[in-house]
Amino acid sequence: MTTDQKPEYSPGLAGVIAGETAICWVDPNAGLMYRGYDIHDMAEKASFEEVAYLLLNGDLPNFEQLGQFSRAIATERTLPKQVLDALRLMPKNTHPMDMLRTGVSMLAPFDPNLNDHSHDANVRKSIRLIAKVSTLITDGYRIQHGKDPLPEKTDLTLAGNLFYKLNGDVPQVWQIRMMDTILILYADHEFNASTFAARVTASTLADIYAAVTSACATLKGPLHGGANEESMKMLDEIKTPDRAEAWLTEKLAAKGKIMGFGHRVYKKGDSRVPIMREIGRDLGKRTGKEQWIPICEKLEEVMEREKHLCANVDLYAAPVFTMLKFPPELNTPIFAASRVAGWCAHVVEQHDHNRLIRPRSLYTGPELRPYPGTSAGKL
Ligand code: COA
Repeated sequence: MTTDQKPEYSPGLAGVIAGETAICWVDPNAGLMYRGYDIHDMAEKASFEEVAYLLLNGDLPNFEQLGQFSRAIATERTLPKQVLDALRLMPKNTHPMDMLRTGVSMLAPFDPNLNDHSHDANVRKSIRLIAKVSTLITDGYRIQHGKDPLPEKTDLTLAGNLFYKLNGDVPQVWQIRMMDTILILYADHEFNASTFAARVTASTLADIYAAVTSACATLKGPLHGGANEESMKMLDEIKTPDRAEAWLTEKLAAKGKIMGFGHRVYKKGDSRVPIMREIGRDLGKRTGKEQWIPICEKLEEVMEREKHLCANVDLYAAPVFTMLKFPPELNTPIFAASRVAGWCAHVVEQHDHNRLIRPRSLYTGPELRPYPGTSAGKL
C-alpha cells in the first residue's frame, strides 16, 4: 500500500474479523454456542466445571474426567501467603477488580510452569487460574472488610465455594444450581474486549498470567464487565417500576448512556437475557424483592420504543446478584470468576496457533514538516 491509499477502517474494529476461534460463536440473531453446544441446553443442565472443561479441551468430559478436573480446581484454590499479605497492604477502598487484577499479576512467579507455553502446561496453568481467581475475589473481599479468609472446603464446587468463602454459610442446593447457570452464561463470548486483550497479550508470547491480567484490567470498564455494577446503581436510583419510564426518558433526553443496554454484536437481543431474566423472577419470588425485574422490563420496553436497543445480560445480572446477597462491587469480579475459563481457553488457542496481533492505524496527524531546530530542543 502506498502512502496515498486510505486503508479500510472500522472505528472500534466493529465488524472486523480479527482472528479465528473454535471456542465460541456469538450469533447476532440472539444465539450463543460453546464448542458447538447451545448455551441454553448447557445453562439448564451442565455444571460450570463441565463447561470450563469443554472450553479448555474442546470436548465434553466423561464422568471420570469431570471428577478429576473438578477435584483439580478444588485443590488449587489456596493462595500463596505472600499474595494474601499483598492484598492486606492494599487500601481499604480498593475496588475488588483492582485487587483481582493485582492478585492475578502477583500469582505469576509462584507458578512453576510460568514460561512454558506448551498446550499441556497452559491447560495446567488454566486450572490454577480458574481456581485462584475465585479465591482472590472472596479472600480479597474478606481482607478488605477486616476479616480473615476462611479455610477451603474442597467438597464444594466453584459455584458453591463463591458463596461459602464470602460469609461461611454453605449455600443451599438451589443457590448452587443458580450460580452454576449464571457462571455458564458468562463463561465465554468470543472476541469481546477482555478476551481480545488477553489474546493480544498472549500473541507476543507473554505468559497466561500476563494475558489474564490484561483481561481483568479490560473487564473493569463500564462499557464491558463494569456494566453489571453500574446497572445496579441505576436500578437503585429508579427504585420502583412506576418511576422507570420517567427516569429513562429524562436520561435519554440528556443523551445519557443507559447501562445494561446495547451490544456490539447482538442486534436482535442478547441470547443470555431470557435465562437471566427468569432467574431474576425466581429470585424475586424467593426473596420477596419483586420490584427489580418489572423495572428492568419497563426499561426494556421504553428503550425498544425510543432507541431500538436491546437489553444485555448485565442489566438482569445486577439484580440477580443483589438478590443472591452479593454486594454490587462484586458483580464484575463474579463475572471474572466465570470468564477466566474463556480467557484461558483463548490463550491456549492463541499460543497453539500463534501469530502476533499487530494491526495498523490510520494516521491523522500533521503532514511531514521541517523540524526548525530551535535551541529549546537541547534543554
Ligand atoms: N444507551 C444509550 N444509547 C446507546 C446505548 C446505551 N446503552 N448503547 C448504544 N447507544 C447508542 C449510541 O449512543 C449510538 O447512538 P448514535 O449513533 O446516535 O451516536 C448508537 O446507539 C450506537 O452505539 P455505539 O456506542 O456506537 O455502539 P457500540 O457497538 O460501539 O457499543 C456498547 C456497544 C455495549 C459499548 C454500548 O451499547 C454501550 O455503551 N452500552 C452500555 C454499557 C453496557 O451495557 N455494556 C455491557 C455490554 S455487554
